Amino acid sequence: MSDLNREFEGKVVIVTGAAGGVGGETARLFADRGACVVAEDVKAGVVELEDYSDRIVTLTGDLSEETTATRAVELALRRFGRLDILINNAARIINKTVAEMSLEDWDSVLNVNLRGSFLHCREAMKVMMPARRGSIVNVGSYACQVAFPTIGAYAASKGAIAQLTRVLSLEGAQYGIRANVVAPGDIVTGILDDVMPNGRDFLAEHGKGSPIGRAAEPSEIAEVIAFAASDRASYMTGTVVMADGGYTAV
Ligand SMILES: NC(=O)c1ccc[n+]([C@@H]2O[C@H](COP(=O)([O-])OP(=O)(O)OC[C@H]3O[C@@H](n4cnc5c(N)ncnc54)[C@H](O)[C@@H]3O)[C@@H](O)[C@H]2O)c1
Repeated sequence: MSDLNREFEGKVVIVTGAAGGVGGETARLFADRGACVVAEDVKAGVVELEDYSDRIVTLTGDLSEETTATRAVELALRRFGRLDILINNAARIINKTVAEMSLEDWDSVLNVNLRGSFLHCREAMKVMMPARRGSIVNVGSYACQVAFPTIGAYAASKGAIAQLTRVLSLEGAQYGIRANVVAPGDIVTGILDDVMPNGRDFLAEHGKGSPIGRAAEPSEIAEVIAFAASDRASYMTGTVVMADGGYTAV
């Protein structure tokens, strides 16, 4: 039986959106299990993760900018000497119908969720291909597969992430690089804080509609992300792993 507490010893991981619910739990989980972590977010509060573990370094920046992705990979190489795992987790949502949505709204969601993920995948692949190893986990959503009114830009970005990941898995296989999506259902986080009052209550309530009957805690999603990223998932690539309490099974 492998020792989970040391599972990621010697590995170097980039986690985006690490000031948030799932990203924070994921960065802490990797550090707890021995990894060195570059934790990135547009929010300056991400720096607090450095107090949690001396294996975490932080980077503040807008991940939709090309330079943020290059800085993240450079930081991993400069501080830790390698890059093994990329977790593209940052995202934003704007709740408007397609008819109401401005071009600025559309671009702001697609730029973070899709462009940011693409840029980080591209910069990571440049390092992982010559190293002939790597694991990429892109965080999707049950909105990779199902639709709700008012999430047009978000759902489009998450569907595109699933396809981007399938392509990456084909391009990476010959180099020993795996790429997968973890697609959560409702998680009690602050992701809706900018778009409605009591966003956490809304997510907790909405999660009751899943067969499991509740929303997830961020730590439950971090566990699935860690598994998909780990060598325990060595035969898994190009897939979308639903972690949605059974929502899409109905
Ligand atoms: N919470 C849910 O119900 C739910 C459901 C399905 C999927 N997800 C997915 O889970 C992932 C994590 O979301 P969460 O629920 O932890 O949300 P969260 O809002 O707590 O965390 C997202 C983080 O991304 C960061 N971010 C946003 N724009 C950025 C930018 N331009 N540059 C850098 N960082 C930026 C935010 O500052 C935030 O810290 C996302 O991919 C989200 O789509 C969440």
